[in-house]
Amino acid sequence: MPLTGIDALVFDLYGTLLDVDRLDEQRRAVLPQAEGLVALWRATQLRYTFIRTLMGDYVDFWAITAAALDHAAACLGVPLAPSERQRLLDAWLDLRPFPEVPAALAALAGRPLAILSNGSPAMLDAALERSGLKPAFDLVLSADTVRRFKPHPAVYALAPAWLRLPAERILFCSSNGFDVAGAGRFGLRVCHVARDRAPLDRLGVEPDVTIASLADLPGLLAPRA
Ligand code: 2OP
Repeated sequence: MPLTGIDALVFDLYGTLLDVDRLDEQRRAVLPQAEGLVALWRATQLRYTFIRTLMGDYVDFWAITAAALDHAAACLGVPLAPSERQRLLDAWLDLRPFPEVPAALAALAGRPLAILSNGSPAMLDAALERSGLKPAFDLVLSADTVRRFKPHPAVYALAPAWLRLPAERILFCSSNGFDVAGAGRFGLRVCHVARDRAPLDRLGVEPDVTIASLADLPGLLAPRA
């Protein structure tokens, strides 16, 4: 069934539009012996966003990402020279889009398109510029504005507020289960981009639609009224 009543599309960035797996290319170049570092780093990064939001002790996503790298390296007993640490951190500013993303965004251009991400404004600006995706978006929203991270409802509230649309007229797209749950619970329509085909987290929220790649989305949207 086509998705009707959608006036704008909002996208999570890391893991949904940009391929975080590229971090491991940099890791292999810098620390070939540190298998598993990136997976632990990404898991720690997200875990830290949840804990700091629950604690009410915000620092931005760049600081979180650096602290998570230091923790992951310490857990694996991997010494990190400052130059190696900086090269790995900077890789977050130079991620590549998944192959289908540029064409899919072009096909979706009939509606306002926005980013809604945990990334700090500086991280988002750099990543969107270097990935070539920046021109596709009318709006870039960062959790930094509300100093809390996803899935806190204050983050999702940025979308209807800045787009000046009711939440139910906005489709939010994410590959991250906690993000699908947070956006759906807030009241946005939700598309789960099931890139890794892993089962969706059981958090009491079902997406409006599940797709394997963004290329599937344009054909699912009913023409705007
Ligand atoms: C985001 O881009 C962390 O992937 C999540 O907000």
